[in-house]
Amino acid sequence: SVEFKTLNNGEKMPFIGIGTWQASDEEIETAIDAALEAGYRHIDTAPVYGNEQAIGRVLKRWLDAGKVKREELFIVTKLPPVANGPSDVEPTIKKSLADLQLSYVDLYLIHTPFSLYTNEDGSFKLDEEGLMTPDLRTNHAATWVEMEKLVAEGLAKSIGISNFDKEQVGRLLKTAKIRPATNQIEHHVYLQQRELVDFCNAEGIAITAYSPLGSRGIAAFNAAAGLVRDLPDLIEIPVVKEIAAAHGKSPAQVLLRWIIDTGVIAIPKSTNAGRLRENLNVFDFKLTDAEVAKLLALDQDLRVCDFAFFHGVERHPEFRFKNQYTK
Ligand code: A2P
Repeated sequence: SVEFKTLNNGEKMPFIGIGTWQASDEEIETAIDAALEAGYRHIDTAPVYGNEQAIGRVLKRWLDAGKVKREELFIVTKLPPVANGPSDVEPTIKKSLADLQLSYVDLYLIHTPFSLYTNEDGSFKLDEEGLMTPDLRTNHAATWVEMEKLVAEGLAKSIGISNFDKEQVGRLLKTAKIRPATNQIEHHVYLQQRELVDFCNAEGIAITAYSPLGSRGIAAFNAAAGLVRDLPDLIEIPVVKEIAAAHGKSPAQVLLRWIIDTGVIAIPKSTNAGRLRENLNVFDFKLTDAEVAKLLALDQDLRVCDFAFFHGVERHPEFRFKNQYTK
């Protein structure tokens, strides 16, 4: 059965959730149905993924039919980078709640530490090269005050952050009255981010790993955005395959088990019923210390989801996921 991570406010979050980025409405409806059927109760979404309405339709069906109780679900969504100023917080969560057909979410995250400039009509403001432009002046502390109000108002049980680095987390902690419950970051064997993970854990902030399988689907997404990157496939790493064979498990299950063994929550994305079941079925085996050591040794600081698709890696190397996004 699925195990839970206890957050710093006592809320319990299932160690495995379903990630929902890069799926059409039709795919996601089928996937959420299959996920709930398989036993998933933790769903990670965001307005940016464009599928909250589709997810809301499935949730409503399940809740109305009494197949699941609201309190059994752990629904996560996020304040998008196009609207993460203080005055955006309440209207934006209310829009998500309306789309999800829920009265509260279990966890609401600031999606990125930076904002993106938009035009008055809401479209992205592009620079002369046609690239999106991050706003470097985003004030997290002011936004966080409004995030804290959501908890008081009962619109979010917990609040957290995503894609924040150590410096950004530290800055937020200086003024936060409610500590972030989680920081959702890219985390897998090739990008372990030990310093950030240890820092957050020491501060009582749980880590959620996105792209825990190395975001195998991102290549197509990058290609569509005109970016070609030669990315490795974590499922094919010989050491991972060897460990999988020793346990009679799949490489994906080993990658996920390694993450949750360190107390980190993981949100693998799949729209395939068989793989969804596979990814949840990781609570019946344990890696040996020697195997964990081998997996730790794989770290190579390789970021798959580097946001290159909006700022262009070659043309703006200085924007590569660094701290200068925000003051
Ligand atoms: P699919 O949706 O067809 O299953 P991440 O969560 O790291 O972003 O990885 C998601 C990608 O990995 C998707 O392309 C997904 O494809 C694929 N994937 C998900 N689960 C598995 C699995 N158990 N084995 C192999 N590939 C998987």
